[in-house]
Amino acid sequence: MLNKPRSTVEIFNDKDSDVVTFFRVAREKPAELAEWCRYTPFSEQLHDEWADEFFAGERPADSVEHAGKWFFLRYSQYAGKVSRKSGFKRESPRDEKGSRNARNWVNAPERIEQVAERFRGVSVVHEDYQAVVERYDSPETVFYLDPPYYEKEDLYRKSADHATLEQTLCEIDGYAIVSYTDLPPGLYDSDEWHIVERTVTHSAAGNGKTADERLILNFEPSTDREFTQQTLLDACPNGGDAL
Ligand SMILES: C[S@@+](CC[C@H](N)C(=O)[O-])C[C@H]1O[C@@H](n2cnc3c(N)ncnc32)[C@H](O)[C@@H]1O
Repeated sequence: MLNKPRSTVEIFNDKDSDVVTFFRVAREKPAELAEWCRYTPFSEQLHDEWADEFFAGERPADSVEHAGKWFFLRYSQYAGKVSRKSGFKRESPRDEKGSRNARNWVNAPERIEQVAERFRGVSVVHEDYQAVVERYDSPETVFYLDPPYYEKEDLYRKSADHATLEQTLCEIDGYAIVSYTDLPPGLYDSDEWHIVERTVTHSAAGNGKTADERLILNFEPSTDREFTQQTLLDACPNGGDAL
């Protein structure tokens, strides 16, 4: 969403209510959320305390604090784990490139401002993807789906039925783009699917490691430029109303 050009109608959906809370608060109260992040140190003690509370199911009543703590844990959880507590992303003097964990957190307020600006005019919803696909399907709709990665499903708090996702997308009138690292075996192998690959540094692969990222499309990409999510959406014949 952050990289694609605006479309007339845009919907962002995730079944995880914390994800949706973050994007809603970033859009509605960006200054308060940015300030909360600016004055929160990248602290191992805070990480331990907040991760224990969060994974015990506790959520702050205040929406800015709720979004802020969730966002902090995205930066502080080792390997970006969402499903359960992992270690604090400590700085390491042995890291060849030099650790950037604390410095990355310094940039959080700026990221919030970018999210707030991009999410103006975007509907943020919190439903199962099947309900959203059914409601918004049309020949002009582009669905971008970023499901839990195959065999990395435990990183997330929502599991995934990859076969049902493929089946759902086989039945739509609109365009579908699905991202995966490893493809679920036996899926997306018919002629109607086109696969574009590149190697990326990815948090799901572990800190600083690379993974092959695949975009699976139910339409022929009309460009062979080095692909990004943005160029693929540009490649849609109508520019697309992306979800
Ligand atoms: C790979 S993550 C993508 C996260 C997000 N797109 C991002 O870039 O940060 C997979 C997401 O799928 C969501 N998810 C899992 N099952 C879902 C479902 N049935 N309907 C909607 N979202 C679902 C999870 O909550 C998780 O946030």
